[in-house]
Amino acid sequence: MTEIHPLTMKGRDPSHLRGDPITGDRYYSRDFAEKEWQHMWTRIWHVAGRVAELEEPGDYVVHDFLHESVICVLQKDDSIRAFYNSCGHRGLRLVSQSSWGAERFHCPYHGWEWGIDGTLLHVQDPEDFPQGNPCGKLTLKELRCDTWGGFVWYTMDDEAPELLDYLEPLPEVYRNYPMDTAVRVKWMKIDLNCNWKFTTDNFSESYHTRTLHPQVPPWIDQDVDSARHEMWPNGHGRTVQPMRPSLSDRLPDGEVHPFDELLKHWGIDPASYPDFETKAMQGWLDLKAAKRKLWAERGYVHYENMDDEQLTDSPHTVVFPNVTLSFLPDNLLFFRTEPHPDDPNKCTFDLWLMAYPMEGMTEVESIMAGVLPMQEASLEHRAFDDGAGVPELEGQIVYQDMTLAEAQQKGWRSRGYTDAYLSAQETRVRFFHEVINDYIEGRR
Ligand code: FES
Ligand SMILES: [Fe+2]
Repeated sequence: MTEIHPLTMKGRDPSHLRGDPITGDRYYSRDFAEKEWQHMWTRIWHVAGRVAELEEPGDYVVHDFLHESVICVLQKDDSIRAFYNSCGHRGLRLVSQSSWGAERFHCPYHGWEWGIDGTLLHVQDPEDFPQGNPCGKLTLKELRCDTWGGFVWYTMDDEAPELLDYLEPLPEVYRNYPMDTAVRVKWMKIDLNCNWKFTTDNFSESYHTRTLHPQVPPWIDQDVDSARHEMWPNGHGRTVQPMRPSLSDRLPDGEVHPFDELLKHWGIDPASYPDFETKAMQGWLDLKAAKRKLWAERGYVHYENMDDEQLTDSPHTVVFPNVTLSFLPDNLLFFRTEPHPDDPNKCTFDLWLMAYPMEGMTEVESIMAGVLPMQEASLEHRAFDDGAGVPELEGQIVYQDMTLAEAQQKGWRSRGYTDAYLSAQETRVRFFHEVINDYIEGRR
């Protein structure tokens, strides 16, 4: 089993929290959104893109966040450097979107040319500057940039901890997954009419699963005592649930059972167990053993270093404050919401479905969007629009969550809502808000 990090806070016991109220204004007040910008967004590490997007020097990804924009560009020495997307002459935004093979960044206003290393290479009329030729003097303003998990990260804060320290203990906890190799087979950005915190709240608890996602309990155990909840000092947290049927959610006899199919796939006869309970519990152990025995000959190279828990279970992980990574044995799912630049009642939802390549694999079951080609996808930007904007996701877990976004946002604005009344298994929701409060109230 995965070792629990020594800094882990207690499971689902909320007694180590202050109990700060989760008031409605946090989700719609412009004043609160401004505090988040001033004290939190400018200090955390952001994901700009996938390292796989940067193959040759001069390839770059542009990450727009609120009113800011950052260019992360691959250098000739294979390092990645990040610069604010703003010309050092009079501030024009230099580039509008990610692209490849830039020799230099050419400002469309007065023609200044910046190297991919941020140095100023050429200006018009260099002798006409009373304060001296800007070439050799000015550079693009640089930000700290680093990589982890096959993602490119940057921070606007010169004082922020190093990325791996900020992510603590996730790099250690997830060291067995070959995240660098995961291929983004579906890449969507979806406009939602809710505050960005809706999704971190939602991904911090599984209490809603039985109601909203009835297809899940026969697949991932939703029994309250089966889950393990972990919260770490930097604000990250996760819930680990076994991928086996919940004992209290039985599909009617005769229905195709997803767990039976999984057992069969790994050479185990579901009929060999005397009853449902034994099949769920012993079958889950047998599945681990079968995967451990057969992974190499079947080409599941991504299993090579996984431990028993990782081979069959589902750690659903929030990287504070707005990224959720779901580590499935064969898929890595990246979810993220980012605030709308001007309206706290809106956000964008990033959905990156990633899969680990296996030899000869040309197609992959993407978990949420059917069978897809095993190759890097292009970005699709849609509006949710009551589901009409993303028909291919209909019925999927994440779609079911999105159907609630607007009603949740409206409810938060009601005078009838003053605070959440949380179950113990929702403790991570309050933990998340308390870490935000730590940032905006100056404790971090
Ligand atoms: S603003 Fe870029 S060259 Fe003038
Ligand atoms: Fe959900």
